[in-house]
Amino acid sequence: MSNSDRVVLVLGGAGLVGSGIVKALLDKGFKVSVISRDSSRLERLQSFVSPTTKANLTTIVGNVGSEEGAEQAKQDLLKAVGKVTDIVSSLGFSWWQGGPPHTQSLKDLHWVVETLLYSTFVSWKCFFPLVRDDSNCTYTFITGDSFNPVLLLTARFHAQFQLCMKIDTGVATLERMVPGYLNHLDLGETVATLVERRNSSHAVFYVNCPADLKTILLERNP
Ligand SMILES: NC(=O)c1ccc[n+]([C@@H]2O[C@H](COP(=O)([O-])OP(=O)(O)OC[C@H]3O[C@@H](n4cnc5c(N)ncnc54)[C@H](OP(=O)(O)O)[C@@H]3O)[C@@H](O)[C@H]2O)c1
Repeated sequence: MSNSDRVVLVLGGAGLVGSGIVKALLDKGFKVSVISRDSSRLERLQSFVSPTTKANLTTIVGNVGSEEGAEQAKQDLLKAVGKVTDIVSSLGFSWWQGGPPHTQSLKDLHWVVETLLYSTFVSWKCFFPLVRDDSNCTYTFITGDSFNPVLLLTARFHAQFQLCMKIDTGVATLERMVPGYLNHLDLGETVATLVERRNSSHAVFYVNCPADLKTILLERNP
């Protein structure tokens, strides 16, 4: 199956990390779909991707963080694109420390759990069946180090992903780069290359600095 026959759903594709992945996938010739709760974020994404690839980007307004919302978004997506061959999940929030732990409230904790865990789990439950039974299809999971306890608690859930990338440093746009951070375009290029290679076995990649992205690109399938 060539890249142009593959339809990649990028969950969180309107976000900082997701937008770099969306752009790189489109530049490699994939068809890409993105669901966001916010239509203005989708418009920004449309103007961010390479103009010649825009026709291959499908955007849908929806909330994949609730069971009903995800199911509705799935129906809308399938109506628009017909099939999904690959999924990249990059849900959550940007590099957020929230201050020292003793200053954080239960409300903060609830928001973190809801944004990181619920949206990831609910959307996985809803969308994974689209790619589960075909060995040519992939599910890639992007997360930060903060997600580790959740992954440990839900080890069997973790094992469902062909690819998992854990990023333990900041990610930024070119304009906001800080030494040691990852440029979201370089990160997107690496993730798009991994999707293109289509690992069939479970692999976890740890990214702590920009050099780790180059190492991943140089490695072949495990
Ligand atoms: N940015 C960094 O420095 C950094 C560093 C290390 C790891 N990471 C990891 O990368 C992943 C993405 O982070 P990011 O920086 O791209 O964050 P972001 O810019 O805030 O984007 C997160 C995306 O998640 C989506 N999302 C969150 N909750 C949702 C919900 N309930 N329902 C539907 N969509 C929901 C948002 O969708 P909407 O478009 O609907 O708002 C948004 O598109 C996270 O797992 C994060 O831990 C990021």
